[in-house]
Amino acid sequence: MHVLKALIVTSTLTFPALGQLDSWAKAAGLKYFGTAVDNPSLNNQAYMKIVRDADEFGQITPANGQKWSNTESGQGRFSYGTGDAIANVPKQTGQLLRCHTLVWYNQLPSWVSSSFSRDQMQRIITSHIQNVAGHYKGQCYAWDVVNEAMEDDGKFRQSPMYKAMGVDYITHSFKTAAQTDPGAKLYYNDFNIERCCNAKINATLVMLKTVIAAGARVDGVGMQGHSRVGKSPSKRELKDTMAAFSQLVDELAYTEIDIRHTKLPTTAADREQQAKDYLEVVGACLETPKCVGITVWDFTDQYSWIPGQYSGEGEACLWDKSLNKKPAYTSVISLLQSAASAGLRKTPAPTAPVSTVPLCCGQGADNHDTIDLISEQPRKLK
Ligand SMILES: *[C@@H]1O[C@H](CO)[C@@H](O)[C@H](O)[C@H]1NC(C)=O
Repeated sequence: MHVLKALIVTSTLTFPALGQLDSWAKAAGLKYFGTAVDNPSLNNQAYMKIVRDADEFGQITPANGQKWSNTESGQGRFSYGTGDAIANVPKQTGQLLRCHTLVWYNQLPSWVSSSFSRDQMQRIITSHIQNVAGHYKGQCYAWDVVNEAMEDDGKFRQSPMYKAMGVDYITHSFKTAAQTDPGAKLYYNDFNIERCCNAKINATLVMLKTVIAAGARVDGVGMQGHSRVGKSPSKRELKDTMAAFSQLVDELAYTEIDIRHTKLPTTAADREQQAKDYLEVVGACLETPKCVGITVWDFTDQYSWIPGQYSGEGEACLWDKSLNKKPAYTSVISLLQSAASAGLRKTPAPTAPVSTVPLCCGQGADNHDTIDLISEQPRKLK
């Protein structure tokens, strides 16, 4: 059964005149539809015209500008040039800024990667968060406080922070972020936690429970959502995962969506499949009351990180290299329009008491998804 079939326009909804992503996402009941933006693309005027169109994108994420290697390359030496260059865009347009990311094992300057005692590492994390989240205080709708702390097999990633402090580094990071910028929604963000239910999702649920029980405030879980055309998770699998996370946090978001072709050039059929795959993600978010928004990891193939990371793969975005919209864009707009017309999110789904809901997951879950979802990777800033 397709829940979006009904096309009943109610007078209480206001519909955007033009079919653009964020205006329709909002009409459908989401908080935003957003995109990552990286520093090298800031001087491309045709690209920036789309970025600054708040009807298209209601939310911006700096792809690299706020990462540790850019904000504190030497201990105690803070610099905000690359972060500010992106953060200044939503300041002018009124778009939401998702800030990304405070504590991550990758794109970490070498000085943080030495071995530190527990106390030393705690002071390093405190200082980094107080300075960086302090600098952006009041500007961030959300912060990805901790990024990619778990391995696919469910073990904790052996990052310099974990080696020094164990799971306490996560608790400490969230507590420090809450003290520094209490108004920002504090997120845990990771990849391969989309398709219900693998070992990583299960371990992430346990980790989050531990951190919350230790007194930290975790507002949201960000599911990155990098996947491959024809192999990306189904709406059912995505919703099952979000039902489990919904028991622990107030918000969920898809934070880095791209769905890449593994064979290039693509055929019309490939592009139609990609359009269908995008619909599964957008549909899952629309049908999950706590899902607030969707962010694509750049909107054009011109600036996608995929070809640089996966040779021979690409065309993962909603716009092609020449800034033309693809079938996936059209299908996403249509779904958002149907959801807005049906008033889909006006009726909150019934919530079962926590104790009666199994943590994870529904029938027919596929546990063998560890290869088709991938981590975001470092990319050089020009
Ligand atoms: C994850 O947890 C669920 C529910 O407890 C269980 O059915 C499933 O087998 C687990 N998956 C893995 C890979 O451990």
